[in-house]
Amino acid sequence: MPTHDVDDLAPHVLVLFGATGDLARRKLFPGLYALAAAGRLPERYAVIGSGRHSPGSDEEFRDQVREALAESVDDLDEQVVDGLLERVSFRTSDADDGADLAAAVREAEEELGDGATDDVRRLVYLSLPPAIMGDMVAMLGREDLVERARLVVEKPFGLDLASSRELDAALKDVVEEDQVFRIDHFIGKEAVQNILALRFANRLFEPAWDRRSVASVQIDVPEDLGLEGRGGFYESTGCLRDMISTHLCQLLGFVALEDPGSLDAPSLRDAKAAVFADLRPFDPARVVFGQFEGYRDDEDVADDSEVETFVALEAYVDNERWRDVPFYLRTGKAMPEGRRTITLRFRPSENRLFGGDPGPNELVLELTDDPVVTVDIRAKRPGPDPVLTDATLRLDLGEQTDQEPLEAYERLLLDVLRGDQTLFTRGDEVDRLWQVCQPVLDDRPEVQPYPQGSWGPQAALDLPRGGWRLGD
Ligand code: BG6
Repeated sequence: MPTHDVDDLAPHVLVLFGATGDLARRKLFPGLYALAAAGRLPERYAVIGSGRHSPGSDEEFRDQVREALAESVDDLDEQVVDGLLERVSFRTSDADDGADLAAAVREAEEELGDGATDDVRRLVYLSLPPAIMGDMVAMLGREDLVERARLVVEKPFGLDLASSRELDAALKDVVEEDQVFRIDHFIGKEAVQNILALRFANRLFEPAWDRRSVASVQIDVPEDLGLEGRGGFYESTGCLRDMISTHLCQLLGFVALEDPGSLDAPSLRDAKAAVFADLRPFDPARVVFGQFEGYRDDEDVADDSEVETFVALEAYVDNERWRDVPFYLRTGKAMPEGRRTITLRFRPSENRLFGGDPGPNELVLELTDDPVVTVDIRAKRPGPDPVLTDATLRLDLGEQTDQEPLEAYERLLLDVLRGDQTLFTRGDEVDRLWQVCQPVLDDRPEVQPYPQGSWGPQAALDLPRGGWRLGD
């Protein structure tokens, strides 16, 4: 995995499409601010926001960014904010017309490069709905904005296999794969990368990481949030595309991969792609779709919407390591808790020294900002008799170091600036994951209602052998 010593980065022009949108407000500008505060941005850079609708003058746009930062960041350093904002401007653009924007990029490059524009890099962040992504990429090609550029593409990458292939073709028309950074912010989370450290740096775990020892795996990402004003987005996307085909499958890739041999970009991405190649296309009969009650009351949601806000499913990785081990994936909105929990449920011990079935051990990874790892074990109950009791080994990783983790977007923006693709999704991974999801898109399970604050429809509760770790 890349290391991130601060060193000299080339001057950069950052172009943010979707600059007035939710993601830019909540994550991208705060990510840039954090990088600026830590002295991790290039010495010379400019940020040009873009979108179809003008937010007003540059000054008005800067005020909006300042407000967004104040909402998301505690203890803002006003000097850092001023330093960032003085480099920020806005130009409108759309798929048919990028001329003004292209002129502004060239002007900024002249300034940053003191006339030597060849030394200036471009980072183009496409935070755009899938329906217009391909046309915008084509516009970048026409306006010659792809030279010296790295393109960051936000998920979902298309809406199904066919449209993702169209997007891929649009990208390949104008740039090389090593210029494309498909972002899945879950992979930027410190705790996700820690899965690899835990497994490969500890002799304790790796030998037990396969079907001989593991009975099942649960990847459980309930969210207590509802729509948060994103009804329109959800209507066009749904939970399968928003969360499963991206975040949860990527987590599965990290859990299931073979030793990549190295943490460089090709090795890690090859190892993940190999898991996805063996991931069996989802069987619609083993997929449960849910919709929380009240979803249809949102003003941007159709009265008869059949869009899923919850998915639970059973998956299999058909290879030597994982054959016949079910992977249970679950995620949904308006659930009782916000968690990201991976559970490896081990096969019960066959030893009966203490009598009876001792029950399975579970290794539980809580992927929060302060990751927690627990192992459920059996121990002897204190006292005269040889009787077992349940106990838990617990490791609070946050307490082991006083170093603050980088927020996922902050980390990933830095990786793009440094040209490091390790934590980004490759085109072939995306293609395969759509192949895996396509049977469910073609034969959608009936959407079942669930009360807000519940763990989803009954059919989902019944899905895993032995029930879910969380909630039940
Ligand atoms: C986003 C999804 O990619 O991830 C959201 O579009 C979801 O629907 C979010 O809520 C979850 O990310 P995090 O980092 O808040 O767990």
